[in-house]
Amino acid sequence: MKKYDRITPEGTNDLLFKECEVQRKVIETLRAGFEEKGYREVITPGFEFYDVFASNSMYFPQESMYKLIDDKGRILVMRPDSTIPIARLTSTKLKGHALPIRLYYAQRVYRQQPALRGKSSEIMQMGIELVGSSSFESDMEILTAGMEALSSCCVDDYRIELGHIGIYKLLMENLNATKEQKETIHSLIVSKNYAGLSDVLEAFPENHTVALLNELPRLFGGKEALDKARQLFNGYDKKLLDMLSYLERILQGLMERDLDKVMIDFGLVHQAEYYSSLIFRGYISTAGESVLSGGRYDELFRDFGENLPATGFGINVDQLAISQLKRIEAEMGITKRYANEAAIDENEDYKGRILNLEYNPVDEKRTEAKSNIRIALTKGRLENDIVNLFESMGYDCSNLNMKGRKLLLTIPNKNIDVVLAKAADVITYVEHGVCDVGVVGKDTIMEAGGTFYEVLDLGIGKCKFALAVPKGSDFYNGYSTKRIATKYPKVARSYFESKGMDVQVIKIEGSVELAPLLSLADGIVDIVETGNTLRANGLEIIEEIRNISARLIVNEASMKLKKTEIDKLIYDIQEKMKG
Ligand code: PRP
Repeated sequence: MKKYDRITPEGTNDLLFKECEVQRKVIETLRAGFEEKGYREVITPGFEFYDVFASNSMYFPQESMYKLIDDKGRILVMRPDSTIPIARLTSTKLKGHALPIRLYYAQRVYRQQPALRGKSSEIMQMGIELVGSSSFESDMEILTAGMEALSSCCVDDYRIELGHIGIYKLLMENLNATKEQKETIHSLIVSKNYAGLSDVLEAFPENHTVALLNELPRLFGGKEALDKARQLFNGYDKKLLDMLSYLERILQGLMERDLDKVMIDFGLVHQAEYYSSLIFRGYISTAGESVLSGGRYDELFRDFGENLPATGFGINVDQLAISQLKRIEAEMGITKRYANEAAIDENEDYKGRILNLEYNPVDEKRTEAKSNIRIALTKGRLENDIVNLFESMGYDCSNLNMKGRKLLLTIPNKNIDVVLAKAADVITYVEHGVCDVGVVGKDTIMEAGGTFYEVLDLGIGKCKFALAVPKGSDFYNGYSTKRIATKYPKVARSYFESKGMDVQVIKIEGSVELAPLLSLADGIVDIVETGNTLRANGLEIIEEIRNISARLIVNEASMKLKKTEIDKLIYDIQEKMKG
């Protein structure tokens, strides 16, 4: 037996029986809907030249693309996306074709994911592209098709959030900031890191642009978000108000179709280089990440020598199929699918449910799923502080105080479930959406990264990242490469990179102070709270890296699907913090 001949690479999956059947049904259902609207199928190659995805703009980080080398030494990449190849195809094979062109695709995309995060590297995607029209009607056509796609796949509850990337772009143009500052501001808006954003913007002179950028990630919700934006944008460049009016018109158009699933988020600024005006995302209750992503990308064709406006969306077929399987099985009380496969196969009801998928025009109102929020709390160091905070807010923490070895508990008077987990796992649970909210230290967030909203600095669990060395030693002296022991290799590496210093980082799991004592390292990068551990082991801080405190993080889909409950939690905490 060879080492890897019985397993599949991380991020890939075999699909068996029902999984194939459900996936096929989802594809057929979406296909029928797209074709009914006049979209025609195209298939692009599974791998293309690297240049296609890295022409003028770099839409995909090169680390996320799988690369191959052809027989002439040229770099090829496994298709990370379908829209860019379709732009290439339209600019070449369909050059001169009557406009608009309506295309759809059903094909896999490949994106390298960070190791051991439970993310798929191979995703079955379907989507549509409407090329050659910049009209309001074309935006409406794409949006409606996106909503119909979600609605047609038996998803109980979904939300579409709309944004306008032009608003963010105009504000950033008017901000006198460096490229690095702009990148930081962008990521803080994307992650709804209100506190971090305010801190960064404090460095700029107070003006209308700075005030609006500060508000951008907080401006989300229903029609009221638009009304608030109108007040705030008042007196600013007219272009901003025009973009707002456009969003209002879109929302109005959707309302006329009796849609109650639409939200606005002015903080929706992802892939700012790619999109040019209207952008949107779709969420369903069974997936912790967006399952649909789209918008207008009028600039993209310039990379291929054409000047064509275009709009479209891509939808994650795998997530829709999983959502269907989960739903059907929950309804039927099936927990062990493979073990029961034969019995399930014979069950006509089960078959019927899968086969009865129909393309639904979106004219029905669905009721919002009301459920508990589940919060992941960091065990240990932060636990007491969090329990004290919750108790001071009137939350009944009796179960938490008498938890014994239990890890899943309830706050009986608040419809809140609590999970107690290790810090890094809090992030994992929130990122995957199995917990809606988490409380975790900024140290872990910096080390682990991830996709979630970081909405509040809770001001508890305060400590700092520091570089410490044996007392009296001269860390910067000598030519040898310094060795740094740490539980936080990513943080340590990026700190020394920012100083342009080459160090060797050694990962230690705990009691990192031991490493210099045993001469394994010249210094440590670690969190310091009282400084007692350093003192007791003859170490001293020579540089403070940054302050740390606990943060409230929120899953992106939960933020949209359980907005009322999560807003209430955030509001309660903020009120308590003010007091
Ligand atoms: C942290 C940190 C230091 C210590 C600092 O370790 O890694 O060792 O606390 O706290 P102080 O400044 O108040 O002395 P932790 O207690 O989390 O244990 P670990 O090193 O075993 O992970």
